Amino acid sequence: MYTFNELSERINKIIQDLDIPDTPVELYEPIRYILNLGGKRIRPVLTLMTANLFKDDIEEALAPAISIELFHNFTLIHDDIMDQAALRRNHSTVHTRWNVNIGILSGDALSIYAYRYLLKAPRDKLFHLLQIFNETALKVCEGQQLDMNYESIDEISVEDYLRMIELKTAILLAGAMKIGGIIAGATREQIDHLYACGRYLGLAFQIQDDYLDTYGDTKIFGKTIGGDILSYKKTFLLVYTLAHLPEKEKKIMLTALNHRMSDDQHQISFIRNFYDTVNIPDITKNIISDYFVKGMEELKKTGVAPDKRKMLEDLATNLISRTK
Ligand code: IPE
Ligand code: IPE
Ligand code: MG
Ligand code: MG
Ligand code: MG
Repeated sequence: MYTFNELSERINKIIQDLDIPDTPVELYEPIRYILNLGGKRIRPVLTLMTANLFKDDIEEALAPAISIELFHNFTLIHDDIMDQAALRRNHSTVHTRWNVNIGILSGDALSIYAYRYLLKAPRDKLFHLLQIFNETALKVCEGQQLDMNYESIDEISVEDYLRMIELKTAILLAGAMKIGGIIAGATREQIDHLYACGRYLGLAFQIQDDYLDTYGDTKIFGKTIGGDILSYKKTFLLVYTLAHLPEKEKKIMLTALNHRMSDDQHQISFIRNFYDTVNIPDITKNIISDYFVKGMEELKKTGVAPDKRKMLEDLATNLISRTK
């Protein structure tokens, strides 16, 4: 079985060798920039590891894996514009380093690169892969729209939150695993379990992302800590806290959320105090661990032998305890 490092190095090498033109420099330089900032490469590794559950030879899974990573990087460029984020992977975001128009257009071009790379997938599976790709991409857009809509709503339910992160994040991890299974000839039933596993891991992954956005370390996480609080994002932390605070505290918190203080750091720590009163760090760890267990149950249900599942189980374990 291939290890995480072997697979991510393989992916990085292919990404480095992509033939990206030099001009117009404003269009292509941001693409090279975001691709070389060193993301974790979790989605393509998931595709390759999933294929590796069923086959020793994972060559055919490389094209869709790269394609998913390209698509993911495109969503990051546009997400950073929408979230007005200044930092990504410890460097300036594309739209801050260049400008918003450059972010929009280089993002568009990168999404086309993703589709173009998919053409390298095996011909007999291309139609099916494209169908999954399209459905996944549209769902990500739906999730991103809900994420934006929720910025201007005071309260949403935990169910609304979960649906939003399922769309914006979980479905791409689910799709990455499904595609790995399809490429490697898994049965229909196995593919359903792989998808369910990826979905649970994706939910856990986004909740951990929400957690790190408030409680993480900027240098390690590579994004501005407290960004979600400042843009009134409906994170798990916020939604759960509002649902569990006594009425009086809840009113104070809602007032604070709606009246931005002049000092950002003060605003962030004021809100974080409310999170602490309902013990958000422990609650978050528990829900993440529940989804992890559910994901691993789904992986077991594929009937793949334990020694073959080990790499994916290790990856999932690392994902839920990650700090970056
Ligand atoms: C960031 O994804 C976007 C989310 C869905 C939370 P990653 O945390 O996988 O970002 P990179 O690719 O490793 O930078
Ligand atoms: C990202 O959610 C989802 C997508 C990029 C589609 P976030 O907005 O929380 O991701 P980060 O924290 O900026 O990476
Ligand atoms: Mg964001
Ligand atoms: Mg966002
Ligand atoms: Mg985030």
